Amino acid sequence: MPFLSRISHPSLLDGTYLQHIPSLNNGLRLCLDSNVTFFVGENGSGKSTLLEAIAEQCGFSLKGGNRNHNLNTGHRFEGYESALAPYLQLAWSPRRINEGFFMRAESFFNFASYIDELAADDPRLLRAYGGRSLHEQSHGESFLSLFNNQFESGIYILDEPEAALSPARILAFMSVIHELDRSGRAQFIIATHSPMLICYPGATIYQFDESGVRETSYENTEHFYLTKSFLDNPEAYLRHLMDG
Ligand SMILES: Nc1ncnc2c1ncn2[C@@H]1O[C@H](COP(=O)(O)OP(=O)(O)OP(=O)(O)O)[C@@H](O)[C@H]1O
Ligand SMILES: [Mg+2]
Repeated sequence: MPFLSRISHPSLLDGTYLQHIPSLNNGLRLCLDSNVTFFVGENGSGKSTLLEAIAEQCGFSLKGGNRNHNLNTGHRFEGYESALAPYLQLAWSPRRINEGFFMRAESFFNFASYIDELAADDPRLLRAYGGRSLHEQSHGESFLSLFNNQFESGIYILDEPEAALSPARILAFMSVIHELDRSGRAQFIIATHSPMLICYPGATIYQFDESGVRETSYENTEHFYLTKSFLDNPEAYLRHLMDG
């Protein structure tokens, strides 16, 4: 059973950019029935906007990291960094949890630098990250060492984690998710464009588009069928595209 069981907000009529995001402006009510939830949808469809609002409501820094890593940014909405966070309501079942992590691919570099700064004062801290600076590991290595060393129980909110990972490492990452999923002590909410990741068995997939946010299956996502039909015959696909 997931800990975060429902995410909702009312219609957004407040004059911020949120009212121009079709997937979000009519209000939202998402049930999280499994330990692993994916957000999929076109670029700009609102996935990160919602993910950041959830992360902030959970108490995580939007620069990425857990509750101990609260890095502040300049821009704030009524005490929140995220414009959507003030409207969002989270329901927890059986109980609220405070442990966990928020990570977006593009902020990983900043996060690695921040960990280095802390480790300059206390080198023991690097133990949690595989024993060496995250900057001395490749993007994918450092990402997986974070998972293997840091993630135990909690809620993990990840924005496009696949950006760091080769296809083989995506599979390794899925097996890490599986270990944590099976333990019953972890919940994942992941925005992704990866057609591989969304095949994770038993995951709930929410598709963001013009008409709102609705549940779907991996076979019915564009990420899956477009990638599959392309890889089935790249030459024919590209010939068609480039001659057309
Ligand atoms: N601070 C902001 N001010 C104004 N508009 C914003 C702001 N942040 C995001 N937007 C707009 O909100 C929309 C949703 O952006 P969001 O980052 O949530 O998309 P996304 O689904 O995560 O896309 P991608 O797959 O490319 O990461 C976009 O049109 C974006 O330009
Ligand atoms: Mg995004």
